[in-house]
Amino acid sequence: MVVSRASGAASLSLLCIAAFAEMAMAHDHHDGDSKIADGDTVSQEPIDTILWIHIFIQMFAYGVIFPIGMVLGITKSRWHVPTQIVGSILALLGFFLGHAHGGREFVGGNVHSGFANILQLLLIGQVVLGLYLKGHWEKGVNGRIRKLIRPCHSIIGKAMPVLSWTQMIFGGITTLGFCQGEHLGQCLAHFIMGSAFIAYAVLLTIILLVGQVWMRRCGRSQEFVDSAVIGAWGCVNTFTEHRWGTAWVKNDWQHTTMGIIWWCAGLAGMWLSKDRDGNPKRNFIPGFVIFMTGWAMSAHPQELMVSAMTHSMFGKTLMAAGLTRIIEIAFVLKDNQSTSEDGRSWNSFQYIPVFLLYAAGFLFMGATEEQMALVHNSALDGVSYILILYSLAFLVFLFSNMLIRLYDRLANPAIDIKNPANGHARANGRTVEEGRLHDAEEFELDGLMSDDEGDESRRMLRRSEDRTSLDTPSTLGKNNEASVN
Ligand code: HEM
Ligand code: HEM
Repeated sequence: MVVSRASGAASLSLLCIAAFAEMAMAHDHHDGDSKIADGDTVSQEPIDTILWIHIFIQMFAYGVIFPIGMVLGITKSRWHVPTQIVGSILALLGFFLGHAHGGREFVGGNVHSGFANILQLLLIGQVVLGLYLKGHWEKGVNGRIRKLIRPCHSIIGKAMPVLSWTQMIFGGITTLGFCQGEHLGQCLAHFIMGSAFIAYAVLLTIILLVGQVWMRRCGRSQEFVDSAVIGAWGCVNTFTEHRWGTAWVKNDWQHTTMGIIWWCAGLAGMWLSKDRDGNPKRNFIPGFVIFMTGWAMSAHPQELMVSAMTHSMFGKTLMAAGLTRIIEIAFVLKDNQSTSEDGRSWNSFQYIPVFLLYAAGFLFMGATEEQMALVHNSALDGVSYILILYSLAFLVFLFSNMLIRLYDRLANPAIDIKNPANGHARANGRTVEEGRLHDAEEFELDGLMSDDEGDESRRMLRRSEDRTSLDTPSTLGKNNEASVN
């Protein structure tokens, strides 16, 4: 069994290496006569079917299957391996199609093909490490190797969605021939900043849906962390947006002063995130910084009508996100971390600032000069373009919610209220049952002890708690049944 697994892993990696060698030799469509006209970045031909299939397959494999598989891996589900194997097969197919396309020709040595090599090597590495882990060789030297391999597989696995996101953006700009030459700086600004808004939105979604208790326990208010990041980012922007020693051009002043307000506000936000007793305290600063950023960005002068419209909608979306965030913290949560004690629920209003951040991210990512010129010269109007970007934001918002729900279901299964005995094998059921058990014991001890016995009984309680946590889930179930009867 073990031998067959090892030989399977070996033949898979050999296959991949052979495929790479063949690709390297067969891949010559950038050499010879280029069909790309002088001054252009792509040829005039349409994208052929093979490349379309490549795009859809890779988006499905890297954008849908692998992230689901990642959640299944983190929660140690037995579906992790089958899911990632399906993903890997699709990715392999997509890889061949990416090399086999005809039709439109792209700039040689483009960033998408360059980064593709890194991503493919990581994926091969990930599969090989995964197969090793799957072998469950846990004794002797293998045990020690396993200890090294597990964190590697875990870190690469969690980095994968971010890397895939980057590769998809690279795919998009390569397809359209964007971001070459002087456009590079603007592309970087829009894609990095837009992705940062979306990443922040994903983090806020995670905290809202599964991280409220964790946030409360970590002893810092959420605004402390937000303000620290805002401050650090502001420092970087203060010094990088203008080339010091040269003239102040275009929007240099606006970008630099934005950096300055970010670190000034960040410092104030960190200060306000403690109350007079040193406890974590919520505040309005990060929301307000988002609001001001939206206002400033919407005021950027634009040449094209559609560009002015997209930027203005981006600004309004950000301002709305900032404003609703302040309302959420001050009035909906009344400065608390959660609406409920157990941190398992939320007010529907709390989704608004989060969703608006996804939308703002997409609007910003879709507003580079080249994209704006493309929309301007097409039949598409500004309103429809903005609606499309909002639709994308809804899809990614939905998918993040689905992934987090999947994680939550597998890591903290819901308690079966009608039939508590069923809950005993479940992680969350255990916490609840421990709580009940604890209450019952405390009640019994309270009745028996006098004041000076307090210390001893507390020690007993602690011992009994330790015991409970060591108990097997099935005993816990029985204990619980006994205390209920
Ligand atoms: C098809 C090949 C793969 C196999 C056989 C495999 C196998 C495994 C196994 C056995 C574990 C459990 C490790 C343990 O806890 O002892 C695991 C965990 C994990 N895998 Fe994979 N895996 C594969 C591909 C992938 C890919 C492509 C990704 C990323 C997209 C990935 C992401 C993860 C993550 C995030 C974990 C959780 C690690 C943790 O506990 O933090 N795996 N994998
Ligand atoms: C994360 C998923 C993706 C991966 C891993 C991937 C990987 C690859 C690979 C390996 C190639 C062959 C590179 C070469 O010619 O040397 C390729 C080509 C290409 N891919 Fe992707 N791709 C992905 C997603 C996308 C997306 C979403 C798009 C478009 C929206 C896209 C557009 C292209 C284009 C235009 C080419 C041809 C580049 C050329 O001929 O130079 N890809 N891709």
